[in-house]
Amino acid sequence: MSEVKFYSRNPVPVEMHKVKIVQKLSLLPAEERLQKMKDAGFNTFQLHNGDIFMDMLTDSGVNAMSDNMQSAMFRADDAYAGSETFYRMRDKLEEITGIANLLPAHQGRACENIIASRFVTPDSCVIMNYHFTTAKAHVTRLGGRVEELVKAEGLEPKSDLPFKGNIDLEAVENCIKNETPENIAYIRIEAGTNLIGGQPISYENMKDATDLAKKYGILTVLDASLLQDNLYFIKTREEGMKDKSLREITRMICDLYDIVYFSGRKFGFGRGGGILVRDEELFHSMEDLIPMFEGFLTYGGMSVKEMEALTVGFDETMDLDIISQGPQFINYCVNELDKMGIPVITPGGGLGAHINASAFVDHIPQEEYPAGALVCALYLCGGIRGMERGTLSEERNADGSERFASMELVRLALPRRVFTLSQVEYVIDRVKWVYDHRNLIGGLKFVHEPKTLRFFTGKLEPTSNWPEKLVEAYKADFGEDQ
Ligand SMILES: Cc1ncc(COP(=O)(O)O)c(C=O)c1O
Repeated sequence: MSEVKFYSRNPVPVEMHKVKIVQKLSLLPAEERLQKMKDAGFNTFQLHNGDIFMDMLTDSGVNAMSDNMQSAMFRADDAYAGSETFYRMRDKLEEITGIANLLPAHQGRACENIIASRFVTPDSCVIMNYHFTTAKAHVTRLGGRVEELVKAEGLEPKSDLPFKGNIDLEAVENCIKNETPENIAYIRIEAGTNLIGGQPISYENMKDATDLAKKYGILTVLDASLLQDNLYFIKTREEGMKDKSLREITRMICDLYDIVYFSGRKFGFGRGGGILVRDEELFHSMEDLIPMFEGFLTYGGMSVKEMEALTVGFDETMDLDIISQGPQFINYCVNELDKMGIPVITPGGGLGAHINASAFVDHIPQEEYPAGALVCALYLCGGIRGMERGTLSEERNADGSERFASMELVRLALPRRVFTLSQVEYVIDRVKWVYDHRNLIGGLKFVHEPKTLRFFTGKLEPTSNWPEKLVEAYKADFGEDQ
């Protein structure tokens, strides 16, 4: 089932699960949040979780486990080598993807490290529909370059196109010809995308892109970290797919690729990762990197308990009731914000609701990180922690100039099975308040700027005393205790 029907009320998305374990949240008063934000150097990654009311930073490693996942953890087989837990995980992944060779790794970026270390050489090129921060950082660390060839329409904030993560096939072929096939380390397709609003890619586009790669003898890699949401969109939006089961669609997708990797912090609702390699010889050529960077070949840095939970989680990903909840909540949130005239990325995608900060705070220049400033404002005005996905998340060009992001987004992630609809309503309400007071928000500047992945550990400060003014206005409307 993908939607519950209503008789007398406007339909809303319904949770197809009930809550059995809860975690208490605290909503600090705005004045205290201001201090916490200052202590965190105006970087939401640096906040303490106990100071946050709605943690919408990410969907990574913070999804709710099911009772079946938790109970599976008890049968974990702890062994340095040859753990039965590993074989159960490998067999489940083979059942779902059709690929028998599994290299375990502790999370998605560890898979990216292994793949890039094996295939990227200085000056080689990796083609992607769109980059993910760590996927790109590993390529550039090794002297490679990334060509992002998402279709131009994928970067239009407002749209009703169902698959804005699709790659531009003509651009791919031109790029292959310009670079020469030998200089292309691999084509990496992200399904769905992270940095452009959680937008999915269609099966048809993946098929065409991988056919092109095959024509030129280029290795194909699927980043399946966000496959769960992408599967939902293929099933519900792509012509000819609605009568196919999620298992059939998954198998059709995986059949297209030489390598499939995933972050188990998303795909499988747990914490871990893995690389599936179709070709035996290729698999063996990558094997030695696992004990070197991750751990022995039968755990790869993962806890065996998490591996057992993931094995159940993979099966749950094949259940439409389970995977529908995320995209439906996101769609609800996006539509409600859109109805109030708040600039959001449409249509709703996976992962979270995405606010278009370029339009929301259009008075803040890109060099003052509009999305970074907006993300701070949302914490100050509601205790909501989102993530900047714009220029601040980019790395500077080699000459030190800013590399301006093609989109300035604030991501409000909806970790799977975690929040209720009333919490989503609270977020919608506070985003509206911030929108109505957006002129009070100012820019940010770095006071400590790391060279790589600066958004994780960098420290910033406001360009004026705008946070104080914003908090004053908030207190005038909501009182001292909110
Ligand atoms: C598409 C995609 N690929 C890779 C990763 C990296 O995964 P991890 O956080 O497990 O390192 C992420 C994480 O957000 C992602 O969204």
